[in-house]
Amino acid sequence: MTATATARAHTNIALVKYWGKADTDLIIPQTGSLSLTLDQFYTDTTVTFDEGLTADDVIVNGERLSAQRATKVHNFLNLVRQQSSRASFARVTSVNHVPTAAGLASSASAFAALAGAASQAAGLTLDRTALSRLARRGSGSATRSIFGGFVEWHAGHDDLSSYGVPLVEKVEWPIAVVALVLDPHHKKISSRQGMQSSVNTSPFYPAWQQIVADDLAAIKPAILAQDFTTVGETLESNAMRMHALTLSAWPPYSYFNGDTLAAMQTVKELRAAGVECYYTLDAGPNLKIFCQNSDIAAITKRFSQQFGGDNVIVAHPGPGIQFLDEA
Ligand code: ADP
Ligand code: DP6
Ligand code: CO
Repeated sequence: MTATATARAHTNIALVKYWGKADTDLIIPQTGSLSLTLDQFYTDTTVTFDEGLTADDVIVNGERLSAQRATKVHNFLNLVRQQSSRASFARVTSVNHVPTAAGLASSASAFAALAGAASQAAGLTLDRTALSRLARRGSGSATRSIFGGFVEWHAGHDDLSSYGVPLVEKVEWPIAVVALVLDPHHKKISSRQGMQSSVNTSPFYPAWQQIVADDLAAIKPAILAQDFTTVGETLESNAMRMHALTLSAWPPYSYFNGDTLAAMQTVKELRAAGVECYYTLDAGPNLKIFCQNSDIAAITKRFSQQFGGDNVIVAHPGPGIQFLDEA
């Protein structure tokens, strides 16, 4: 007997970052976080449970993963098998629709899409809160990619209480995120390793917990009021304070490269010239610029001159998880 399902989930960019786990097995975070789901970057995943298989078979972007590289996916499927009556192995076919090897957050859309497709193929009927909790077990940031628009992840304290909640799902605010592809290579230190090192060794970690609480309290009403300046200042300072945890860890490390610093300088110059925009970046060098739609042309022109037009991608708020019919 076979059972199959396909789901699409979009990536998200964190405006108040998740950077540290309280429980590494259940992926319970140390703090809450808040993100914006993006329309330009997504993952499509098909899962088929098949009694004829002798192992899980995982194909990402057309390439079959070795058993070792498929470990996270295999462990995730084990969870779904435990929760359902399916016992058989599965075939997972996944395509990341992000600019080729751009190094833009992939684990969020990947595990949100996998949670949707695997649970549906296994015959589970999960509401979106339960899907968000399931996605969390694959990758923390995937918790938020179940929903569209601005999404908060309530840290909680156990498996039941840690999940995403939409703040504004249908965003009717003319804002955009301009993504700069500054380095196409895979990062050397994964988010998972990096945040654990920060929790364990940065003396600034307790201050970070207070910063996140303050930033969430500031950014939520500002989003609801469409207060662009407060949202922008909060997300930029939150990003820099997260990255300060990497510099203050031992051994120290950084996700920035030279182009990252140059692009930050350009954002400051744009602001000084009256183009109000703010930057953030996740665990990689690729800057994302939060701006108003009326400034997209000026911003893309400036960065296209600096880094080439192919490396500048304009994204808008995107939707939550979608289930796709078989073609
Ligand atoms: P990112 O910044 O891209 O989220 P992470 O280090 O958080 O980087 O996560 C990358 C992990 O996600 C890798 O283990 C990679 O194998 C996995 N991954 C990426 N895309 C997929 C996919 N479509 N299906 C399954 N796993 C994926
Ligand atoms: C900097 O969700 O990739 O993007 O839970 O270990 O899979 P794991 O980590 P991941 O970490 C994301 C870190 C971040 C900030 C954020 O998305 O909130
Ligand atoms: Co990730």
